[in-house]
Amino acid sequence: MKKGFMRFAMLLCALALAACGKGGGEAADGAITVGFSQVGAESEWRTANTRSVKEALAAPEFNLKFSDAQQKQENQIKALRSFIAQGVDVIAFSPVVETGWETVLREAKAAGIPVVLTDRAVDVADDSLYVTLIGSDFVEEGRRAARWLLEDSEGQAGPIRIVELQGTVGSAPANDRMKGFKEVIDADPRFQIVRSQSGDFTRAKGKEVMEAFLKAEGRDGIDVLFAHNDDMAIGAIQAIEEAGLKPGEDIRIVSIDGVRGAFEAMKAGKLNATVECNPLLGPQLAQLIRDVHAGREVPKRVQVEEGVFTRDQAEAELPNRKY
Ligand code: AHR
Repeated sequence: MKKGFMRFAMLLCALALAACGKGGGEAADGAITVGFSQVGAESEWRTANTRSVKEALAAPEFNLKFSDAQQKQENQIKALRSFIAQGVDVIAFSPVVETGWETVLREAKAAGIPVVLTDRAVDVADDSLYVTLIGSDFVEEGRRAARWLLEDSEGQAGPIRIVELQGTVGSAPANDRMKGFKEVIDADPRFQIVRSQSGDFTRAKGKEVMEAFLKAEGRDGIDVLFAHNDDMAIGAIQAIEEAGLKPGEDIRIVSIDGVRGAFEAMKAGKLNATVECNPLLGPQLAQLIRDVHAGREVPKRVQVEEGVFTRDQAEAELPNRKY
């Protein structure tokens, strides 16, 4: 009886692992085995990104092994080591933070497994440790958010007090967006960043940190919120409303991603602008993997095209949004 149950449980586990390993599709003979380690499921952006990657790598020419790191670098390192042990053909991953990758990337290189970075960069002295990076220009996204603010503040007297909701500490988008934003606003003495704190790219944390900002600065102490992603801005909107203020009016808000939730908030007048960060990297990633596996030369950096959207464009643009 006990043995029968054990066999049944093992069969269930094997079936679950097989389903997980195939990433939803049925791999053909000679398929390219890809180990993909995703950051987590922290935002609307990430959900769309995961869907895009899984859809593109569900084609029979690929055998996808997908792993979710739940926003923890140690989980990603474990996943990468497991991909190396399994002898996958290509490793692709979106690194949760920038530093601390040298050792595991050297292990992949020693095993002869090419690494493709998606979405986020790593900070390594030896850039031969990865073949290519496909993703957005996060510094430029920060600059775009600041340029929108500059334009929207034309003719306004200072000081213009800004609070900043940063992304995950040590992540490429948090480091770069902060850098690009500061680069532009530092040239205008009217702007002051009065508070900066991480909201870890999540709605819940965005709300929590915005509540703390409002408490510390008072109802009249904040003019602008710059959020490193839309999810944190959406969480913050709730905090602003609960404090009896009007988001988008009493506090102007600019964020990054361009997800559907941000367009809905803009349509409702609660968010002023969003800078696009395109998560639909799957098809381009699939092509890069094909090229890398075939030994074809690929560019070291593949850029994604993106724009900026404001409240007056939200209603017309909303039906076109794919994420
Ligand atoms: O790396 C891209 C960033 O990660 C997105 O802007 C954010 O929403 C996500 O969590």
